[in-house]
Amino acid sequence: MSRFPAVECTVYPYDCDTYGHMNQAAYMLLFERARWEALARGPGQDLFRRHRIWPAVRRATIDYVLPAFPGDVLRVDTETEKIGRSSLELHQRATRVADGALVAELQIVFVMIDGAGKPTPIPAEVAGMFGGRASVRPGELVRHDVGGVTLAVDARGDGPALLLVHGFPLDHSLWAHQVATLARWRRIAPDLRGAGVSDAPEAGYSMTSYADDLVRLLDRLRVERAVVAGLSMGGYVAFEMLRRHRERVMGLILVDTRADGDGADGRKARDAMIELARTEGAAAVAERMVPRLLGRSSQQTQPNVVEQVRAMIGRTSVPGIVGALEAMRDRPDSTSLLPTIDVPTLVVVGAEDELTPPAAARAMATAIPSAALTVIPGAGHLAPLEAPTAVSRVMAEFLEALPRP
Ligand code: MLT
Repeated sequence: MSRFPAVECTVYPYDCDTYGHMNQAAYMLLFERARWEALARGPGQDLFRRHRIWPAVRRATIDYVLPAFPGDVLRVDTETEKIGRSSLELHQRATRVADGALVAELQIVFVMIDGAGKPTPIPAEVAGMFGGRASVRPGELVRHDVGGVTLAVDARGDGPALLLVHGFPLDHSLWAHQVATLARWRRIAPDLRGAGVSDAPEAGYSMTSYADDLVRLLDRLRVERAVVAGLSMGGYVAFEMLRRHRERVMGLILVDTRADGDGADGRKARDAMIELARTEGAAAVAERMVPRLLGRSSQQTQPNVVEQVRAMIGRTSVPGIVGALEAMRDRPDSTSLLPTIDVPTLVVVGAEDELTPPAAARAMATAIPSAALTVIPGAGHLAPLEAPTAVSRVMAEFLEALPRP
């Protein structure tokens, strides 16, 4: 959303410390240099003076990744993360032009002050430079670069974090009711790579990359730990987060999912679906999947939900569909992980779920020490969408019973 152009800066010997490289203080100055340079190329470096205001830095965090040396050329990209009435949050990344390596990142919060040092509203011209609007509206997706891939995220509310991970081949809107209603929680519902309007690279899909993207997203949002709710493939991703980043997970909600991996027949079916996606596209995948995703009650009585799911799948890119199918086909079996799960866990399943049936959910809940199980009547594999009020209510009860960090 930012209108900041990327700026290239050469590292000079006088930028470096006595050790001869850019340290974190030097990166701080480099990022500042890039911001002024971008202003010079756009509205002019007197932008703030013209409005008799000044952007005062209130918080800045540098992530030092690699050293840079005299002669290196660094490209600085600047992105606006938030614009409030008088505050502004930017994210800047410096990469080495020679090889594209990330060397440092900066997260920085400004408050616009007037001549007396008091916070003052950001004038329209200045807001325009930083993205044109005064704040993110509820439901508006914000894009976050998670290291080479940009994820679109619906994030709302304050409080402990609840990360909502959708299934295949769906997007964040699967959780619309939960995002809208689970107040007192910071709801974070991303589109996974390849899904919704997130980037859909040609390759690079695996449970590992999905899980690492989400942890990087939590880093970007400054979230240390989150309750992770995963539906179906989102549950497989949650298991991978537990395997790789257990310290980031403070609770689990496993919805319409299973722990075991694909058997030989399952893998064959994935390959057939990959072929279908490649030859006939997302609409054909939707035709094939909708009757299996939705419970028979929803198919009979909720034509709007049928249409919504068909459209959601139809919008998914072919590389995203193929990548997810390969990632699911090759995912590890998570059964042995279940007895080791030591965070509060809720298992939810639609009574009419044929893909990950109640029996599988029951077995999973039994294997996880102190997990609770709730079966949602009248719902199939997409319970949060088919029976939104019931699912939000059991999630709210579970969340409210957790000790607040
Ligand atoms: C999903 O809903 O994410 C998929 O149906 C999961 C799967 O096919 O294993």
